[in-house]
Amino acid sequence: MDTKIRVHRAPKTLITGNGCVAQIGAEAKKLHAKNVLIITDPGVACCGTVESVETPLREAGIEVGIYDKAVPEPPMGSVHEIVDLAKKGKYDLIVGFGGGSAIDVAKVVAVLAPNDDRLEDYVGIDQVPHKGLPFIAVPTTAGTGTEVTAIAIFSNEKLNVKQGVVSPHLIPNIALVDPVLTYSCPPGVTAASGMDALIHNIEAYISVNATMHTDPLAAEGIKLISKSIRTAVFDGGNAWARHNMAIGSLLGGISFGNAGVGAVHAMSYPIGGMFHVPHGIANTLMLPWVMEYNMLACAQFFREIGELMGENMEGLSDREGCEVTLQALRTLAEDLDVPQYLNEVGIPESAIPDLVKGALTQARLWNNNPRKFSADDIEQVYRNMAVKPGTEPVKEKKAPAKK
Ligand SMILES: NC(=O)c1ccc[n+]([C@@H]2O[C@H](COP(=O)([O-])OP(=O)(O)OC[C@H]3O[C@@H](n4cnc5c(N)ncnc54)[C@H](O)[C@@H]3O)[C@@H](O)[C@H]2O)c1
Ligand SMILES: [Fe+2]
Repeated sequence: MDTKIRVHRAPKTLITGNGCVAQIGAEAKKLHAKNVLIITDPGVACCGTVESVETPLREAGIEVGIYDKAVPEPPMGSVHEIVDLAKKGKYDLIVGFGGGSAIDVAKVVAVLAPNDDRLEDYVGIDQVPHKGLPFIAVPTTAGTGTEVTAIAIFSNEKLNVKQGVVSPHLIPNIALVDPVLTYSCPPGVTAASGMDALIHNIEAYISVNATMHTDPLAAEGIKLISKSIRTAVFDGGNAWARHNMAIGSLLGGISFGNAGVGAVHAMSYPIGGMFHVPHGIANTLMLPWVMEYNMLACAQFFREIGELMGENMEGLSDREGCEVTLQALRTLAEDLDVPQYLNEVGIPESAIPDLVKGALTQARLWNNNPRKFSADDIEQVYRNMAVKPGTEPVKEKKAPAKK
């Protein structure tokens, strides 16, 4: 039993279930809102689902403004114009409506709107000095779990890396998790965001900072996602699968939000930052390669992960069980058609030294990981996955132009 002092944080109010988004008007009133800014992105706005938050807010007699141009995998610089808008509009509550990208943008707008601080000064742990405007998170992917975490992730355009703002002031007052909102996610987004959710649960389960509060949640998250992700991707209207994914993602958010994530995220951030590979794809790409290296430090837990995924471990040693889990993860990525090699996402071997440097900057994540990685270890893992056998390496060193 872990005897260290542990802190467990989550939103005050967590509302889940099909159709629960209709309660947003009543919940906003409890927060004394009169004038609400909904922040979303163009991909979500196109689906016509913004009405599902706008209508109940208006019906509750609340004024509503909508900003629908948040940028996916958000660059830091994209936030300033929204903060200006929030200030000018004198909004008293912010709603983040979308995937992790739109919600992360909305989270920092809520803390920046009441003052003249700069987002750049908030990067790192506990750098946000004040409480922000009240904030409600409504996720439309299953996903990042950001609706319950104290984290917001941005691309630093100058350094070409992804950076995190981590502060209890970013935890939403209320999270409304309505699985119906994810039905419009196309298969590619369902696969990438769903794998991110699975990886949050896996990395939280093996984290050295896992606790008795996070372990059962992460275990249930692994179960729910493993048995539903293929159905959610290939039969997007399946209510059972979408519900399991939304709850599995939420459990991942609570577990990793407290236990942390580790080497998979640390090594995928430079892939996202330098080559603009979406977060869920970059994580899925890294997962088996990192776990192949990690598993000897956490063999029992990694074997248990395979069991939670539904693999038969009867009569196997922990070591043998680890191989079964590893193969199950590779098969899952193949089934979902997510690449497994750096050259498949346009990354040349010559970029590896910069990827290593980028990964080493993620100190807060390495501290959670069960096995210590030296710079040489990190380089070796990237080299193991550099070129898919039988395919051509990528020649160009240059990172692709920014979108
Ligand atoms: N704050 C955290 O705790 C945390 C955790 C993990 C990841 N992240 C960050 O979250 C971001 C990724 O978030 P994501 O995986 O949810 O994807 P996303 O928010 O980037 O969305 C991906 C695409 O899907 C579209 N989309 C979203 N919901 C949709 C719906 N219901 N129907 C149709 N299209 C929809 C979006 O418009 C976008 O084009 C990254 O920036 C990542 O670093 C944050
Ligand atoms: Fe993630």
